[in-house]
Amino acid sequence: MRQYRIAAIPADGIGPEVIAAGLQALEALERRDGSFRLDVTTFDWGSDRYRRTGSMMPEDGPEQLRAFDAIFFGAVGAPDVPDHITLWGLRLPICQGFDQYANVRPTRILPGIRSPLAGVGPGDLDWVIVRENSEGEYSGHGGRAHRGMPEEVGTEVAIFTRTGVTRIMRYAFRLAQSRPRKLLTVVTKSNAQRFGMVMWDEIAAEVAREFPDVTWDKMLVDAMTVRMVKNPQSLDTIVATNLQADILSDLAGALAGSLGVAPTANIDPERRYPSMFEPIHGSAFDITGKGIANPVATFWTAAQMLDHLGETAAAARLMRAVEKVCADGILTPDVGGTATTRDVTDAVCEAIRMEN
Ligand code: NAI
Ligand code: MG
Repeated sequence: MRQYRIAAIPADGIGPEVIAAGLQALEALERRDGSFRLDVTTFDWGSDRYRRTGSMMPEDGPEQLRAFDAIFFGAVGAPDVPDHITLWGLRLPICQGFDQYANVRPTRILPGIRSPLAGVGPGDLDWVIVRENSEGEYSGHGGRAHRGMPEEVGTEVAIFTRTGVTRIMRYAFRLAQSRPRKLLTVVTKSNAQRFGMVMWDEIAAEVAREFPDVTWDKMLVDAMTVRMVKNPQSLDTIVATNLQADILSDLAGALAGSLGVAPTANIDPERRYPSMFEPIHGSAFDITGKGIANPVATFWTAAQMLDHLGETAAAARLMRAVEKVCADGILTPDVGGTATTRDVTDAVCEAIRMEN
């Protein structure tokens, strides 16, 4: 029996609702498959803990996570706690502490889900966005001086290193190479940002020489938003900086129907540390506790987790179950249905059980 240790961190808002759904689907897969076991430990870190103790996680939090094979993460964010505290108090220290430098965000239109783009259906939009996840605009380099004074300054410095850019380009080219179209778009803003972004472009061109079978092009980020909307078929694998990809992948999620279906994986490709799997969406306090959070993004990221662990058959089985349930019209309100989180979850578990 293959065994994996999973750290579940449901955290805030709808995080606990979708992680519970995800764990239920994973259990159904374990039972169906019979040859692997997930040993899940749940951590109560998040905004409740912050209100109680003044910190989102214990000081040795990352150390506690080190021994796990993967981290299954819900969302952070609460109406009464500033977002920079929830984000920097839990999610970013894990991503950065474990050097999860590749953030991988697959997007496609699932059967039964309508894209807001007219005439665009399953097959027309099938992308993977690779986000640089360790530096760039979110390197945490900056400061504030003369607080509250008219001469107050705030800086937020984007850091690009040759090592950081090279490794994300290699990851993106390799991923593009593994997909049927072998097509990569490198997003940039080197017309306005003359230093880090010009280096980004140069390194992309250097790394491209290692992958002669990958077709690639370069696109300014503003023009990229237009291309994603007007010509989604022209894109396949996409690589962008931390901030640019953060924004583009929310757009991608919306174009694929809802943020509620968009997954993400924070990967340490060298496997020195556990990687972290989460839905893209946040804690969605407008729908927390209503039982209508879409669990599909969490199922999809659970499939990414299984893939990463090497359980590729179970990952594919989970995605087939999700696609069947979506095609059957068992959908939560964000994608136009009337089903609850539980309805969708039960249907997915049933599809897993019934599949031959
Ligand atoms: P959000 O992603 O939480 O919600 C945006 C909209 O999408 C809301 O209308 C919400 O109801 C809907 N939505 C999101 N996930 C859904 C799901 N699974 N099913 C159905 N509808 C869904 O983003 P928002 O409102 O900007 O932020 C709320 C909080 O979440 C903030 O504190 C923010 O900082 C935090 N956040 C945390 C993230 C993370 O933990 N990775 C990512 C994004 C935001
Ligand atoms: Mg985001």
